[in-house]
Amino acid sequence: MTLWSGRFEDAPDPAAFGFGISFGFDRALFEDDVTGSIAWAEALGAASILSEPDTRAIVSGLHAILDEGRRNPAFVDGDDEDVHSFVERKLIERIGDAGRRLHTGRSRNEQVSLDMRLYLRRRVPVLQNAIATLVNACADQAERAGDALMPSYTHLRRAQPVLVAHFFLAHAAALRRDHARLAATAAEADALTLGSGAIAGTSYAVDTAQLARALGFSRVVLNSMDASSDRDFVASFLFASSLAMVHLSRVAEDFIIFTGEEYGFFELADASATGSSMMPQKKNPDPLELVRGKTGRAIGRITGWLASMKGLPSGYNKDLQEDKEAVFDSETTLLASLAATHAVVSRLSLNKERTARAASGLLLATDVADYLVARGLPFRSAHEVVAAMVRRLLAEGRDFSSLSLGEWREASEMFGEDAPTAITALASVQGRRTPQSTNPTAVHEALAECRTWLAGVVAAAAR
Ligand code: ARG
Repeated sequence: MTLWSGRFEDAPDPAAFGFGISFGFDRALFEDDVTGSIAWAEALGAASILSEPDTRAIVSGLHAILDEGRRNPAFVDGDDEDVHSFVERKLIERIGDAGRRLHTGRSRNEQVSLDMRLYLRRRVPVLQNAIATLVNACADQAERAGDALMPSYTHLRRAQPVLVAHFFLAHAAALRRDHARLAATAAEADALTLGSGAIAGTSYAVDTAQLARALGFSRVVLNSMDASSDRDFVASFLFASSLAMVHLSRVAEDFIIFTGEEYGFFELADASATGSSMMPQKKNPDPLELVRGKTGRAIGRITGWLASMKGLPSGYNKDLQEDKEAVFDSETTLLASLAATHAVVSRLSLNKERTARAASGLLLATDVADYLVARGLPFRSAHEVVAAMVRRLLAEGRDFSSLSLGEWREASEMFGEDAPTAITALASVQGRRTPQSTNPTAVHEALAECRTWLAGVVAAAAR
């Protein structure tokens, strides 16, 4: 029995009907579907479309179903076509004929969009919380690193010295944008679709503004025809999740590289690494590799969804059912990847000696040039002087710290006695002047600002 079988003489072909069944995955919307139905029944009651006794019977029947489903997830099961059919069947089984009045003036087209909106409103904060937990681990690592130095890289070649804390806060900054982007998708989903009917609106005088308030929406959709197929908020969610995964893949890649033997900047904890079945010396960063790999899957979900939406004629089309597995899979993938990344990052230990050693040497070249600029040489000329020094040092397998005062002077008369001591990795970071720079005071303030942000999101989540 389906919600629509009255229209047909023949039983459905199992291959054709089974192909369209969505209950296997849309049962995740169970609680949202019931929540929406309770509000719909109350709206029908308030408009005297349902009698008071029927309204009461429906509302209390739905509450009982919600309780049962929450208590026992196995209850949400059956050979129903979808979650909407399941809830209606259970209601009729429980309260009898009054249950057959629930769907008055409502279509599954608006209902399924409502359910997805309610679902995202519930789930986005869970993802945001996991993001904040990872930001917190980055902040803890930044704090533990203190004034430790490391090289920064461009083109994966040593660029300039930075504080290790600055590096951790760089990843935190990207994750904070993900947090905000998810909030924006929840805001986009924040519109009531009920009252749209199947496409043209409903002919019952339901108070949609009141219904929106009852369900906690800040507004009603603008147009019933648009609403029946608008899944832009789904696309935004999939984009926000895939970009968060892209950021996690970059965190993963950095630590895959930096924990390897060639770099040795950080040590993976035993608890968050894996071994090899054959090579006893191996300590592999499998969780990070899997995060990097799963990013492809998240990108596939947004790409696939945009392709499903492209060229759809106006109004609801069954293609739209594809939104669900995309959303559920992206959400599960992101949540698991955040947890795995947190497990690794929070347990990393820093090898300060190795990072400091790597942060000195030829990557001070820009600072050497800046030294000359401070003494009046035009930057382009300073660049040439230092480039010549670098060429010679490279040929001799040396770096700036090995130069005698005589050799400094040979390169340029402008180098004073302070040159050997003034040009160090620590002096380099201390010489940065802007608030977003790796200047130790600026980084200290950036860490405090990050802690304030974290306290703010924790407080907002508790509200
Ligand atoms: N399972 C459907 C979906 O996810 C629900 C809406 C069905 N509406 C319809 N007219 N067949 O989109």
